Amino acid sequence: MSARIVVLVSGSGTNLQALIDASANPSYGARIVAVGADRDGIEGLARAERAGIPTFVRKVGQSSSREHWDLTLTDTVAAFEPDLVVLAGFMKLVGPKFLTRFADRVVNTHPALCPSFPGTNGPGDALAYGVKVTGATLFVVDAGIDTGPIIAQTVVPVEDDDDVATLHERIKVAERAMLVENVGRMAREGLTIADRRVRFGRP
Ligand code: GRF
Repeated sequence: MSARIVVLVSGSGTNLQALIDASANPSYGARIVAVGADRDGIEGLARAERAGIPTFVRKVGQSSSREHWDLTLTDTVAAFEPDLVVLAGFMKLVGPKFLTRFADRVVNTHPALCPSFPGTNGPGDALAYGVKVTGATLFVVDAGIDTGPIIAQTVVPVEDDDDVATLHERIKVAERAMLVENVGRMAREGLTIADRRVRFGRP
């Protein structure tokens, strides 16, 4: 039985595409049962539609409050009965109901080496600081901003002539490979978290 994955996106969806491509092989151990977004008209949703995957949009502005949006998103995702929820460039913080419902089953990828440079400008902040290496981090989502237990990290160099776009693009190549490899392992092997330390394998 392959694991059921719901992916949430807000943008171009290249990480989603990498997961769609990987999961086309049954031996990957996971299949994407739905793709959700917090906005419409994005390439991430178009990628899902082209792959024949059900999609949904839940905009914060369509809910009466952030709490209501949290509840709506939670119920919508829950209807797909996911084993794992992957935030792949999802530019909203999920709420407490969502995290309680899918405890330890929500993962996110951040384009920096956590705990450095959390937030929405990881590549730009790394460049401005002048670090010589940066990368991407896959982590289990908790209530903080990019603070959850770390599943995997991947490192890329910062080149002298980088701007934010070239650096982010280099990070994203490594990030997609990291995401595909580790989501597959989570699906096939399970994950155990003890005192922030994450290892593959069921408890
Ligand atoms: C990724 O680098 C992700 O970590 C960041 O935004 C980017 C999303 O890229 N939050 P895509 O939409 O998967 O192409």
